[in-house]
Amino acid sequence: MIENRKMEHLKICAEEDVEFQKITTLFEDVHLVHEALPELDLAEIETRTSFMGKELQAPLLIGAMTGGIDNAEQLNLDLARAAGELGLGFCLGSQRPMLENPEAAKSFKVRAAAGETLVLGNLGLQQAIKLDPEQVEELITGIEADGIAIHLNPAMELSQVEGDTNFSNGYKMLTSLTRQLPGKIMLKETGCGISKHVGARLREAGVQVLETAGAGGTSWTRVERLRRGGGADEENWMDEWGIPTAASLLEVSTLGFELVGSGGIRSGLDVAKSLVLGANAAAMALPVLRAYLSDGYDGVADFLEGIIRELKAVMLLTGAKDIAALKRHSPVISGRLSEWMNRKK
Ligand code: FNR
Repeated sequence: MIENRKMEHLKICAEEDVEFQKITTLFEDVHLVHEALPELDLAEIETRTSFMGKELQAPLLIGAMTGGIDNAEQLNLDLARAAGELGLGFCLGSQRPMLENPEAAKSFKVRAAAGETLVLGNLGLQQAIKLDPEQVEELITGIEADGIAIHLNPAMELSQVEGDTNFSNGYKMLTSLTRQLPGKIMLKETGCGISKHVGARLREAGVQVLETAGAGGTSWTRVERLRRGGGADEENWMDEWGIPTAASLLEVSTLGFELVGSGGIRSGLDVAKSLVLGANAAAMALPVLRAYLSDGYDGVADFLEGIIRELKAVMLLTGAKDIAALKRHSPVISGRLSEWMNRKK
């Protein structure tokens, strides 16, 4: 049952160590250059930006997590309210439960709580290929979302006992989706990142908005192994599979996407580094869930405000008065990340 699986995912992500143990985001290899004479007033640092046609007060999205189960309704409403009040984007979790049970729609209906801010629905490409583009459009309109994130998750499907492991026809489906729903599709991974080669294929298929969801944060193959009863101290190569988030951003940053950095974003500094590597915004999933579980709506609002405060401090210390200026910052790239930059494509 999809509902049971969703409950188990939330429980495991709340209670266990679900992050990559060895792979890091490689943001530690991105060095921003200190500006000792900023000539800026912190109060005037401007984080406002636009993303997918909507204005955001900061380049930040709450990443896709859940929906379709009883305890997801209040969670999604509270996350949507926090996004609305702070002027950030909000991505819902997979709407697959809605395909199986129309009742499930209520936990995705967050427009009233979110106000005008950007809200995106969510569906796996593995589920989308079984639908017509019109049915995908209904998933957007049925919850008054601004668009939908289609997620790629081959490693996660492979590590699920009940996983759907026929990955044929994805490209064809994406091509018809982007044709029929222009401006409404974002493509994302789920923690294994996107390479330059895949990014180029996605561009050919008409995808304009991409979220890296690289390795270094939540490891979904690890979540699935823990769900199968595996121990947290066991080792499995698939737990540590993926392209580090900073490397994935560099791989796809020249392909012309509207780009979101995600996968292990844990601080305002990580948000800033994502933008410096070419992203237009950054998304966070696991830390937002944990902030919610520790202190509800207030926990999430405080956490996100802290991230924005930190982003502003980084902007001041790099002499960037606004997001455009931050994106022009020229960082030093060291170590493993510079090896990724030199790989033959
Ligand atoms: C997720 N993620 C996710 N992604 C997606 O596209 N659809 C989904 O339904 C879910 N479900 C989900 C549940 C929970 C509890 C978490 C923590 C995450 C993946 C998520 O959007 C993101 O890509 C990865 O978790 C990496 O980001 P973090 O968690 O390292 O910030």
